[in-house]
Amino acid sequence: MQRVALIGTGAFASTHVEALHAAGERVRLVAAVNTDVARGQAFCQQHGIPACYADTATMLHAEQPDLVHICTPPGTHAALSMQCLAAGAHVLCEKPLCASLAEFDRLLAAEAASGRTLSTVFQWRFGAAAQFVQRLLHTGEVGRPLLATCHTLWYREMDYYAVPWRGQWAASLGGTTMGHGIHLMDLLLWLLGDWQEVQAIMRTFEHPIEVENVSLALVTFASGAVGSIANSAVSPRQETHLRLDCQQATLEVKALYRYDTSDWAFTLPGDVPITGWRIPQDQPGTLTAQVAALLDSLEAGQPPLVSGWEARRVLEFITGLYQAARTGSVVRRADLTPDNPFYHSLTGQPV
Ligand SMILES: NC(=O)c1ccc[n+]([C@@H]2O[C@H](COP(=O)([O-])OP(=O)(O)OC[C@H]3O[C@@H](n4cnc5c(N)ncnc54)[C@H](O)[C@@H]3O)[C@@H](O)[C@H]2O)c1
Repeated sequence: MQRVALIGTGAFASTHVEALHAAGERVRLVAAVNTDVARGQAFCQQHGIPACYADTATMLHAEQPDLVHICTPPGTHAALSMQCLAAGAHVLCEKPLCASLAEFDRLLAAEAASGRTLSTVFQWRFGAAAQFVQRLLHTGEVGRPLLATCHTLWYREMDYYAVPWRGQWAASLGGTTMGHGIHLMDLLLWLLGDWQEVQAIMRTFEHPIEVENVSLALVTFASGAVGSIANSAVSPRQETHLRLDCQQATLEVKALYRYDTSDWAFTLPGDVPITGWRIPQDQPGTLTAQVAALLDSLEAGQPPLVSGWEARRVLEFITGLYQAARTGSVVRRADLTPDNPFYHSLTGQPV
C-alpha cells in the first residue's frame, strides 16, 4: 500500500483524488499541500484528507510519503519533483514536467540518484484502445504507418488566462502546444516512434498573452512516415483527432478531453469498417487508468511507462517545434544538443 500526498489542490486536483479513490486499498491519501492555505483546507475537508500543509518541506518531513502527486502550476514542477525525489518519494508530476531538455536531464540525474521513479501525466496512452493500437503497429498487422494527422483544436476565452500562471512563458512553460497539444503529440510519438525533423509556425491570435495559441508543424519520422500537427486554443468547434493512415488501414480517435474505446474507428480501403477486433470497452484513456498502471509498475519494481526516455520524447519534439517556429528553419532531432540554446530554454533565450 502506497502512502500518497498531493501537492497543489486546484482545478485538476480532484481528478487525481478520483484516480486515487479508484485504486482502492492500494493507496492511502494521507496529506495535501497548498501554499494558499484556505484553498488547501477547503479541499482537504471536501475530500476527507487527514492532513493539510502550507509547504512541501514540512509535509515531506512529517509524512514521509511513498508517492507524491504534483498538481501545481507548471513553473513549479521541476523544483518540487527534485525536492520529493530527494526526500525518498516516487513522483507522478502533472504535465508539462519542466522548462527545457537541460532541466529534464537534471531531473533524470536526480531520479537516478534517489533510487525512486519520476513519471509524468500522459493519460492518453493508457486507454485500452491506444494500447491495442500500439501493439498492432508493433506487430505490423496493418502495414507501415505512412501519414499521421494530429489535431488538438480547443477553444479558450480570456477568462481562462485570468489564473495567475496561464499565458506567461515563465509560469506556464509554453502555450497551447505545451499545455494542450502535448497529450495527443505524446500519443502520436509513442505510436510512431522516433521523429527526425520538424518545420513549424506559431501565432498568438486575439488575446494579450505571451505564449502561442496556435502552432502548426510538419514532421518526418525516422521510419519515413510524415505527419501534420495542429495545436489551437482558438477553435470554436473543439476536437481532438489523431488519424494514422497505414498501408492497410486507417486507425483514428476523435474525442475531446478523454476517449472511450467507442471513440476509435478502424477502416480498411474502400471505407470498410473493421468490426472484428475485441478491445476492452471499460478502460478509457484517463488518469485513473494511468494511476492504476503506475501502481502496477511500483509494485512490480519496474519503471513506469511514462518515465525516462518515454517522458522526454515529447519535450524533445516540442523543443524542436518551438525552435523551428522561432527560427523559420527545419530542425533535426540531432540538433537538440547542449550547444543549442533551445536545449536550455524553449524560447532560445538565456535563462
Ligand atoms: N493531465 C491533464 O489532462 C490536465 C488537465 C488540467 C490541468 N493539468 C495540469 O495540472 C496542473 C494544475 O492545473 P490546475 O488547472 O489544477 O491549476 P490551478 O491554478 O487551478 O491549481 C494550482 C494550485 O496549486 C497551488 N500552488 C501553487 N504553487 C504551489 C506550491 N509551490 N506548492 C503547493 N501548492 C501550490 C495554487 O495555490 C493552486 O491552488 C498544471 O500543470 C496543468 O497543466 C493537467
